[in-house]
Amino acid sequence: MLKGRHLIEPGNFSLEELDGLFGLAERIEEDPRYLRDSCRGRVLAALFFEPSTRTRLSFEAAMLRLGGSCLGFAEPGSSSAAKGESLADTIKTVSCYADAIVMRNPKEGAALLASRYSGVPVINAGDGGHHHPTQTLTDLLTIRRMRGQPGNITVGFCGDLRFGRTVHSLAKALARYPAVRMIFISPPELTVPEYITGILKKEGVDYVETDRLEKVMSGLDVLYMTRVQRERFFNEEDYIRLKDSYILTAQKMESAKPDMIVLHPLPRVNEIAVEVDSDPRAVYFKQTKYGMYVRMALIASILGAAA
Ligand code: CP
Repeated sequence: MLKGRHLIEPGNFSLEELDGLFGLAERIEEDPRYLRDSCRGRVLAALFFEPSTRTRLSFEAAMLRLGGSCLGFAEPGSSSAAKGESLADTIKTVSCYADAIVMRNPKEGAALLASRYSGVPVINAGDGGHHHPTQTLTDLLTIRRMRGQPGNITVGFCGDLRFGRTVHSLAKALARYPAVRMIFISPPELTVPEYITGILKKEGVDYVETDRLEKVMSGLDVLYMTRVQRERFFNEEDYIRLKDSYILTAQKMESAKPDMIVLHPLPRVNEIAVEVDSDPRAVYFKQTKYGMYVRMALIASILGAAA
């Protein structure tokens, strides 16, 4: 039962609970009328202290499609955070107005802190370079829809693995599935942090690190591309030097398996050439739609509105 629960990082839900959510999302996809008015009279607060297109709008679309209402802000300058209000006080206040809170914040650990002051469930929509668990729900549902239940696959993560919170959350989540091999492809400056490789070692996950995409491409079942996270760099020079480390092109896709899938949490900057979009293996725009279905399933479940 997910009713009343927070979602701060992927490990908060068991594999059985995740399966339940994915089943619900698939049912909603099959029949968009399913759960249509299940959240009527309920309110979702979306507090975005950092920019977002997909996460904020898919949560809002999800709540509206469930018959509920949304309030919140898309940038902190329009909230009393700009006057110096603490996150704890903001959360205590908003939890008087809403039945659940979705929050994105640039500080790592902000969502966990918010959950300690909130009277209603808190959903982490990204905390700095740390975690982004609802993107992970989206990614896992996409893998499941495209290739079946995650397991017995080789997943390549490519790009900014140091600051890419979607990578951290997905790697941690995939470590719980059987026989998932991971290949981390990044420049030496942007390797996956030790707190993630430490978990992989502890879980006995087979993983390797490399800086050459071409070398490993033909062995991948899933290629997870990411952008270099400009907003987390300490200086612009380093960003400019590293931003085009990897650019996926139609030519590079020629060496990939015919059934490999390309995921990207988006936004894309330059790391996937637009020509790749027409390749049937490029499923990143389908992924954005699955993101809305799984967020509908999540909201309905934590509000106790799902059967
Ligand atoms: N994937 C993702 O988090 O996208 P947004 O930053 O647009 O929300």
